[in-house]
Amino acid sequence: MKTFDTIHNTKEFLAEAKKSGRKIGFVPTMGALHEGHLTLMRRAKKENDLLVVSVFVNPIQFNNPEDLKKYPRDLEKDKKLLESVGCDILFAPTAEEMYPEEEVTEHFDFGKLETVMEGAFRPGHFNGVAVVVKRLFNIITPDKAYFGEKDFQQLAIIKRLVEMEKMPLEIIPCSIVREPDGLAMSSRNERLKPKERAVASLVYQILQEAVQLKDKKSPVEIARWVADRFNNNPSFTLEYFQVADETFLQPLEQWKRNTGALGFVAVFLGDVRLIDNIRFY
Ligand code: PAJ
Repeated sequence: MKTFDTIHNTKEFLAEAKKSGRKIGFVPTMGALHEGHLTLMRRAKKENDLLVVSVFVNPIQFNNPEDLKKYPRDLEKDKKLLESVGCDILFAPTAEEMYPEEEVTEHFDFGKLETVMEGAFRPGHFNGVAVVVKRLFNIITPDKAYFGEKDFQQLAIIKRLVEMEKMPLEIIPCSIVREPDGLAMSSRNERLKPKERAVASLVYQILQEAVQLKDKKSPVEIARWVADRFNNNPSFTLEYFQVADETFLQPLEQWKRNTGALGFVAVFLGDVRLIDNIRFY
């Protein structure tokens, strides 16, 4: 595996690879790699000639400075995991390399997509994601880029970004990878205290139970039911639960035949914020 920390060296190396017609599969990450990330990478490796991974804790997508400070970082451990999945190129830049300007002023308009859920509760988050992903795509010039459905709204934002910027690459959505007890894998899980970790599997259990209710209750009634489940458990502080359509992620009042629907949750366990989602149909 080759490791680069400058844009120049990365571009130079990849230009050579491109000239010889090799297809580039790209997995952007913020490190603290786990089996969820590695699953995306194994797929990218299989479907392309070169696997490129970026590890960059992107400061401008954190709306909470404490969250940025506490975000787990261990590049040496990440490198070993990257070797184990046959990663060809690791791009691990500094913040100065990615953001040489004093202040990032680039602004995207994602319309209604960014007014709900993560967009509403984490102001500026998706703009920060879009700025970094656009820069990463321009540096890596992938043929295919892989994103997890764990961050379903992020995936929708990235698809829209690629469409708006007319970028010549394919976005490949990948299913959520879970721990044996159902907890969606996340770098933030490392920060759960043992007591919190012990109840964390309830998040997915409640989502699964909610799906069981879909023939008996409306989306709004289900949202109320889920909120009660979390509010009755003192370990959790619910930020939101919403049933939304799969394309525009707008809240559903009634079940609709012409679109798929998912339930989305953001919940705090102590000071760790977890998100998850489940398909209703
Ligand atoms: P990060 O949270 O490190 O996630 C990197 C990629 O791994 C994302 O596409 C995410 O959806 C996927 N992923 C994480 N956990 C997963 C799981 N349990 N199952 C399936 N996929 C999972 O998402 C980001 O970083 C950043 O916002 C980034 C896109 C890199 C921009 O900074």
